[in-house]
Amino acid sequence: MLKGKRILLVVAGGIAAFKVHELIRLLRKQDAAVRCVLTEAGAKFVTPLSLQALTEDKVYSDMFSLTDESEMGHIQLSRDADLLVVVPATANILARMAGGLADDLASTVLLATDKPVLAAPAMNVRMWSHAATQANVGTLTARGIRFVGPNDGVMACNEFGPGRMSEPVEIVAAIEAMLEAEKPAADKPLAGKRALVTSGPTREAIDPVRYISNHSSGKQGHAIAAALAQLGADVTLVSGPVTVPDPAGVAVVKIDSADQMLAACLAAGAVDVAVCAAAVADWKMAAPATAKIKKQAGAAPPSLVLTPNPDILATLSRPGPKRPRLVVGFAAETENLIANAIDKRTRKGCDWIVANDVSPATGTFGGDRNTVHLISAEGVQDWPTLSKERVAMQLAGAIALHLTRPRPAEAAE
Ligand code: PMT
Repeated sequence: MLKGKRILLVVAGGIAAFKVHELIRLLRKQDAAVRCVLTEAGAKFVTPLSLQALTEDKVYSDMFSLTDESEMGHIQLSRDADLLVVVPATANILARMAGGLADDLASTVLLATDKPVLAAPAMNVRMWSHAATQANVGTLTARGIRFVGPNDGVMACNEFGPGRMSEPVEIVAAIEAMLEAEKPAADKPLAGKRALVTSGPTREAIDPVRYISNHSSGKQGHAIAAALAQLGADVTLVSGPVTVPDPAGVAVVKIDSADQMLAACLAAGAVDVAVCAAAVADWKMAAPATAKIKKQAGAAPPSLVLTPNPDILATLSRPGPKRPRLVVGFAAETENLIANAIDKRTRKGCDWIVANDVSPATGTFGGDRNTVHLISAEGVQDWPTLSKERVAMQLAGAIALHLTRPRPAEAAE
């Protein structure tokens, strides 16, 4: 979604500047055009040469360079960008931004711009919590500057707390969300609609250290949540334990077990559409052990007594005033894909079911691509093999079409 977008990175002087290389790589991977303004302090941590090589563009540093000003004046630098990102946003550059200083190229560009600005703070925990920094952040927030992070964690100075710069994937997600918010209303057919998405596996405890689970990575479900948010929906994503990053602009509720997933789905309240892409464990332990089950020498292995988990998709599909207008399930099958999926749609009572073959040879679990069939009362649509993001966009498009179509009763009025 960043294809063709022009991102101006203002690289300031902090140890976290080393993450800028990965950030540029991720932005370029999405075909964004990246240009860098490097402060004098920033150049102590990363070299202009490395930024130039990665961006394939000139790096700008000198406010008074005759060639730079004639080729690309400081006003033009900010005008040419769709978004500016201050990375790392040190206490010093935040103070200079808040004070409206324009004493080098970076601060001048930031003062001259009328484009959205994102800052990724990185500094020592006490510098971050200092009243001066917090006041500067308050001033900048009030002026419309957006912030991503800082995160909690161990810092280069060996102290722990908030001050660690967000990871490059988190910064990319924040950039996507900001650019998304700039889009005209026509690109947001799901504005005003609420969506619930489940994603990832569940974990069912055997004892405090062992669990039953499956190979779902959350890639497909998370991509669907992101795609619905891109089309303007207010999305709640209920996710099992996964390592994929939270999608931008989505409210994420993290759970472990199927019982917790059901409770979180019900707590999300009324929604227009529910998409159940999670791989929910069908069974849980009838009575999980409260202490680690010990291996006894010579004894037979313990038997696991299982009991069914609640069916979240069937619960959400139940007729009633709170039922979402559209409920979409997924069917993960290793044989008789279409027949089993058609049967599952009827049994669970959902409107659509997305059938996908999860046999190991397909690489669907955890992979980046998926071959799906969209099954509704109207029949079966076979989609070509697509990236999980494309599957998500196509499904979100079909959902938008369905939800913006007048209901039969409204159409008859
Ligand atoms: O996460 P990835 O690695 O990207 O992989 C994506 C995926 C393969 C997990 C995804 O595309 C998918 O198929 N999700 C559904 C997996 C699954 O549990 O399928 P199922 O056929 O066992 O269940 C059918 C439907 O009932 C699903 O919508 C499931 O969420 C739902 N269900 C199942 C059991 C249960 N107790 N409650 C449920 O709601």
